[in-house]
Amino acid sequence: MSHGLREVKDPGASARVIEATNRKRAGAALDAEEIAGVVTDFVADRIPDYQMAAWLATVACQGLSTAELAALTRAYTLGGGRLDLSGVDGAVVDKHSTGGVGDTTTLIVVPVVAACGTPVAKMTGRSLGFTGGTLDKLESIPGLRTTVPLDAIVPTLSSVGMVITGQSTDLTPGDGATYALRDVTGTVESIPLIAASIISKKFAVHADGLVLDVKTGAGALIQERDRAVRLTETMLDLARAFGLSARAVLSDMSQPLGPSVGNALEIRQALAVLRGERTPGLWDLCATICRLMLRSVDPRLTDEQAAARIDRVLDDGSAYEMFLRWAVAQGADGAALEAERLPAATRRQFVRAAESGWITRIEPRAVGNATLLVGAGRLAYDAPLDHGAGVLLRHRVGDRVAKGDVIAELHYDRGDADTARSLVESAVHLGDEAVTAPSAVQQIFEP
Ligand code: URA
Repeated sequence: MSHGLREVKDPGASARVIEATNRKRAGAALDAEEIAGVVTDFVADRIPDYQMAAWLATVACQGLSTAELAALTRAYTLGGGRLDLSGVDGAVVDKHSTGGVGDTTTLIVVPVVAACGTPVAKMTGRSLGFTGGTLDKLESIPGLRTTVPLDAIVPTLSSVGMVITGQSTDLTPGDGATYALRDVTGTVESIPLIAASIISKKFAVHADGLVLDVKTGAGALIQERDRAVRLTETMLDLARAFGLSARAVLSDMSQPLGPSVGNALEIRQALAVLRGERTPGLWDLCATICRLMLRSVDPRLTDEQAAARIDRVLDDGSAYEMFLRWAVAQGADGAALEAERLPAATRRQFVRAAESGWITRIEPRAVGNATLLVGAGRLAYDAPLDHGAGVLLRHRVGDRVAKGDVIAELHYDRGDADTARSLVESAVHLGDEAVTAPSAVQQIFEP
């Protein structure tokens, strides 16, 4: 069997990336021009994947100085455009999460904040590994166009008040090119690489306010709390250096955030919250993100005033109506959405409590991986999804259950449902003593 490497297309570009990798490994600082050269050579396909992967892995191991991080962030945007939001009446706000399981916050906070009168522009991505992606969830809504052309973003924001659209790699070509490579080369979980990836995209959108939701715990990209705090502070400093007004929340991902894990299941969950259900965990975090979003564009607004506005739009139905109006504006069948005619799996398996006790842990990665086995996420890069499949958790950490109680439902039509159910079973831990679940909101970072 041959193990030949792909041919080097541009020997000069290959020599430069190898030199940059060697220098970085030896502890030297790379200058902005060198970093821009590596990224633009890769975007232009002048260097092969394996040389770029070696450079990214070296950066992931050695870290980046503040100057190098700013240079990489800028390099990701080279050759891309920038959204011009100046035509929108009022300050526009944006949010970004580092990703998790059962995390349907975008589908809730965007319409809530928009219903409060603050326009929201949100570019969003697909699922990554065991975590869900908003774009995949949106595709379960019949008719909805998940890509809004760049020149239609401002008109949609002006007429509806919110836009949610697939990430445009036209804005940050460097991030677009390296992200998929990082996903398959173990270089996602690096503080500087995550920070540059996220802030480059936020810089290209350049909203007036920005809220970052950084996860910590077993289901987060960066699991350890002190490192997640470092990631948060790194992103806030970087955002400031790029002229963005950002706030952040550190949130718990030691268990799935909400009870629904899977695409259409999470759309239903978001609709339930928008109709007024304060789902524990999920709503606690959404309420905090909404308050931070409102305050990021209007710092005079007190936390109490922001909370009152949010409660009002949830209780009077205007947040729900905003979601419907936006979905119809992006092509959705409004009647189907209102009647919740969304994809639904027809088969069920149940996970029951083997004994009476308190739920002490629900491991998010195992639950996320179980949904992959029944087609709710991708095991292969281009695998088609089953939008109706997923897991519905009937309990959270801290709940008391009796022997035989159903703790979780597996919804599926295809895939390896037996292994998926066993995974969910192994994800749930029971104990003899009551435990208190960690708060969904761990720490707030406001200037
Ligand atoms: N989300 C991003 O956009 N980029 C990362 O690197 C990680 C999470």
